[in-house]
Amino acid sequence: MTKILITGSKGQLGTEIKELSAKFSNLQFFFTDIEELDISSLDAISNYLKDKQISYIVNCAAYTNVDQAEENEDAARLINADAVKNLATAASQNNITLIHISTDYVFSGDNSTPYTEDQKAKPMGVYGRTKFEGEENVRSTCKKHIIIRTSWLYSPFGKNFLKTMLRLGKEKDSLGVVSDQIGTPTYAHDLASAIIRIIESIDKNSKFNDFGTYHYSNEGVCSWYDFATEIQNTSKNKCKINSIESMDFQCLAKRPHYSVLNKSKIKHIFTIEIPHWRSRIEHCIKRITE
Ligand SMILES: NC(=O)c1ccc[n+]([C@@H]2O[C@H](COP(=O)([O-])OP(=O)(O)OC[C@H]3O[C@@H](n4cnc5c(N)ncnc54)[C@H](OP(=O)(O)O)[C@@H]3O)[C@@H](O)[C@H]2O)c1
Repeated sequence: MTKILITGSKGQLGTEIKELSAKFSNLQFFFTDIEELDISSLDAISNYLKDKQISYIVNCAAYTNVDQAEENEDAARLINADAVKNLATAASQNNITLIHISTDYVFSGDNSTPYTEDQKAKPMGVYGRTKFEGEENVRSTCKKHIIIRTSWLYSPFGKNFLKTMLRLGKEKDSLGVVSDQIGTPTYAHDLASAIIRIIESIDKNSKFNDFGTYHYSNEGVCSWYDFATEIQNTSKNKCKINSIESMDFQCLAKRPHYSVLNKSKIKHIFTIEIPHWRSRIEHCIKRITE
């Protein structure tokens, strides 16, 4: 049986993997969050792996508060870069494939066409910078790695934009949302399915050698304003969404104006079909409201 360690499993993505895991009787999952396994300790990781014969680690742990990271660079670096180095070291020492999740915020946003995996990273803030350092630590330490950059993650769990919009949509008559940041929402449930598919593909192919960096988001392109409008329409909230510019919305971190990811590589190598972002909002809202 293939054994998979999930770190940061109480977050959005980790919880979605847990929800899906019951469907895969051929895979054995070990779900851990900071209480069971603090990935900032290499000793803790090495001890945890002992005698378990883990074949894959999926790292869902991260410091994800983009604004707070601006004022807590050391804390962000500890989880997003140093702890990732620990995982990569332990994975390499134990011949484990490391699947690590990264972000569209490694890019500056100067593009006007979707970013491919080989384009130069130029993060605008602490979160993106520390996540990119984490990527580099994986690349330099663990040959058998898959880095998946994703964007605008949402789910029924934890804190995310969709849940905030549902709440504010009930509380307010109108709301300003930025329309000059363009990207793509990603339903964490879809990303979780893609990760399991990737593990099964690698597992089935003893000659697999396409390790490296991949992009995954839902299909399509939108602004946060478009995303908010679709959420309000789907949830039938009456709140009016007004388009505003980033300069009118005060926050600590600068974000890229354009961070759409090109997903050709992941679709081709792992034969993954990706749903359009508009088609997934209803599924998530149903799970929240039922
Ligand atoms: N959220 C987004 O919009 C977004 C966008 C692009 C990429 N990503 C990437 O996608 C991945 C998953 O994101 P997510 O939204 O699911 O994250 P999340 O909900 O913030 O979950 C991260 C989890 O990691 C845990 N954690 C923190 N420090 C840890 C440590 N030292 N050891 C073990 N676990 C630790 C957190 O616990 P606490 O809650 O107690 O800190 C939390 O349960 C991350 O790599 C993130 O950078 C996210």
